[in-house]
Amino acid sequence: MKFSESLAKIGQPLTYRRAWRRLRRVLHPIGTEPLLGKIDQARLRELQAKYSALSPSTPSLWRHYSKYADVEKHLRHNIQRAQDFNLHRTTYPHEILDIGCGAGFFLFVAEALGHRGLGLDVSGIPVFDELIDLLGVDRLEYRINGFEKLPDFGRKFDLITAFATAFHGGHEDSWRWGEAEWDFFLTDLKTHLKPGGRIFFDLNAAYDGKYYTPEILKVFQKHGGKLERSHVSFVAGT
Ligand SMILES: C[S@@+](CC[C@H](N)C(=O)[O-])C[C@H]1O[C@@H](n2cnc3c(N)ncnc32)[C@H](O)[C@@H]1O
Repeated sequence: MKFSESLAKIGQPLTYRRAWRRLRRVLHPIGTEPLLGKIDQARLRELQAKYSALSPSTPSLWRHYSKYADVEKHLRHNIQRAQDFNLHRTTYPHEILDIGCGAGFFLFVAEALGHRGLGLDVSGIPVFDELIDLLGVDRLEYRINGFEKLPDFGRKFDLITAFATAFHGGHEDSWRWGEAEWDFFLTDLKTHLKPGGRIFFDLNAAYDGKYYTPEILKVFQKHGGKLERSHVSFVAGT
């Protein structure tokens, strides 16, 4: 990066927000070791050996997701996510729904901090299925489809998350959600929040390398979305 670009970055509020998040993580750490200690190490080693030696004939998506067998790395990443939501310093246990929960790392961390989680994802990706089982995360097998309401979960949530989102179509898919699908989805998703509840997406760059189109941005704004690069968050009642 050029010196002039570095200077320009110093003047940006985003730079301060990121620095503040990093500082807070240092000031209020969550150790990785105690979390690793909750996992059956013999089963974990077996799983890691299996996914480090997949045959070339294994479906490419399964091979792509085998990187999630690096549990220590993904725990560290999800600890940071939990820290950024202040989940280790909240005054009451949160009900959390994690959409596209994958291996379930985020909910595993959240539950270790005293919260109650429900993951939502399709099944059939072996490394995710096995890690969900190993980590003991509660997952509802469910495929999100455009213009379809989510099921009744029997409870409302303080926090709804979706990290590295794929349900709206990824860059490798021939389809993508447009503004109508997003509007329908956000309207429905908000009905699953408790008063004061929050929604947070960390979007994949699915729209020609961008996180959203100008039309989708308008939908996010209509729903009160706050944006920070790939992050979009919403609060109940807005
Ligand atoms: C890139 S992975 C991210 C996993 C996890 N959120 C994380 O950050 O570690 C995307 C996840 O979204 C799930 N997914 C994709 N399309 C979905 C859909 N239509 N409904 C529910 N889950 C979906 C995939 O199965 C996968 O677990």
